[in-house]
Amino acid sequence: MISLAVNETIARAVEVLRENDHGDYTIPTKGLYPFQWNWDSCLTALGLAHYDEARAWTEIETLFAHQWPDGMVPHIVFHVLNDSYFPGPEVWRTNRPTATSGITQPAVAGFAVRRLFDRAKDKKLAAERARALLPKIDAWHRWFYENRDPRGEGLVAIIHPWESGRDNSIDWDDAFERVPTEGVEAYTRRDTLHADPAHRPTKAQYDRYLWLLQHFRALGWDNAKLHDASPFQIVDPGFNAILIRSAADLADLAETLGEMEIAKANRARAEKGLLAMERLWSDAHGQYLCLDRVIGKLVDSASVGGILPVFSAIPKPRIAAIAATIERIAGKARYIVPSHDLDDPRFDAKRYWRGPVWLVVNYMIADGLAASGHTQVAQRITRSSVDLIAESGFAEYYDPLSGEPLGGGRFTWTAAMVIEFLKSER
Ligand code: DGY
Repeated sequence: MISLAVNETIARAVEVLRENDHGDYTIPTKGLYPFQWNWDSCLTALGLAHYDEARAWTEIETLFAHQWPDGMVPHIVFHVLNDSYFPGPEVWRTNRPTATSGITQPAVAGFAVRRLFDRAKDKKLAAERARALLPKIDAWHRWFYENRDPRGEGLVAIIHPWESGRDNSIDWDDAFERVPTEGVEAYTRRDTLHADPAHRPTKAQYDRYLWLLQHFRALGWDNAKLHDASPFQIVDPGFNAILIRSAADLADLAETLGEMEIAKANRARAEKGLLAMERLWSDAHGQYLCLDRVIGKLVDSASVGGILPVFSAIPKPRIAAIAATIERIAGKARYIVPSHDLDDPRFDAKRYWRGPVWLVVNYMIADGLAASGHTQVAQRITRSSVDLIAESGFAEYYDPLSGEPLGGGRFTWTAAMVIEFLKSER
């Protein structure tokens, strides 16, 4: 039987989704993020599907309606004018029919679409909507390997920290030393009006985010040039794992729908990526690490980006080692999974991606662990996530030591993930 408390929490989560729903897309939260964000939307669709399947498909379709001709799916679609966010369209200047940013985000659409399809009550509707999305997601995957893996290594690089979604991770600190700040145009941040500056990236980081943006803009947002021209090229294991999982899921879905070419291409991408991922493994940390492609060296920084690969079909011993790493971390943090190793002196319990717990990441990690038989650790992550909501509401992220809610409030993807966690616990 479903308890009253669970039903009540789901109802509260649905309220958050409805509040942020703009008809055919959902904003992450009012004030701080007033447009459509790429991976937010894809994960949010899973929550929407619990009460409106057609609306869930629309969420992803709206995002893909703004795919670039070269296949890239931008990280922000600026559907409306709103000056509560910086940097807005006047800074990006990407010259798209509807303004968008000029960089991308973790490719979680393939995974989300397959999950929507598998769970759909209305299979006819799902087949129709999924079939139309397949070639678009396939084109995005192709874009990644053509533009972000120019030497065919099997792993793609991000060229801006915002692409990873883990904006101010400790993973980027060393590479950021190489990103200059000369020539950055004067700017006023808006994020610190909506969230505590102590929970957000620093000015030094913002200067570099903007230097990269201006650098790419000066190159006309030509993706054929940007990778090699960027002083920041990082192979993030979590980012790659999400792409690999999405490629594998897209392959399965394409097979079901009889789209064999798409299936074959995506199966090959996933297999090549999984083999290449071995290069990123660290025995010392019991997890994967980022590779700084500019200098060809692994980055000595144990972040959740190196734990996320359990979301993809990495070898069983690697999954077991990561499960043990999470258990070690769980011995020190009240709530798991923190976005950075607590033993690292650079760990910061409150600052965005330098320590806090994020429920979307927990969802993907728990999903991978459960699928590979590590049910106890998976359940522990789910429990932590549900406890955080009960104690601190639908925050953007949480302090892993105290559970304090951090960043923006009434957060869409947190609400979507809570619905997911609670339904899976039943
Ligand atoms: C921001 O502005 O904080 C976003 O994370 C960039 O996508």
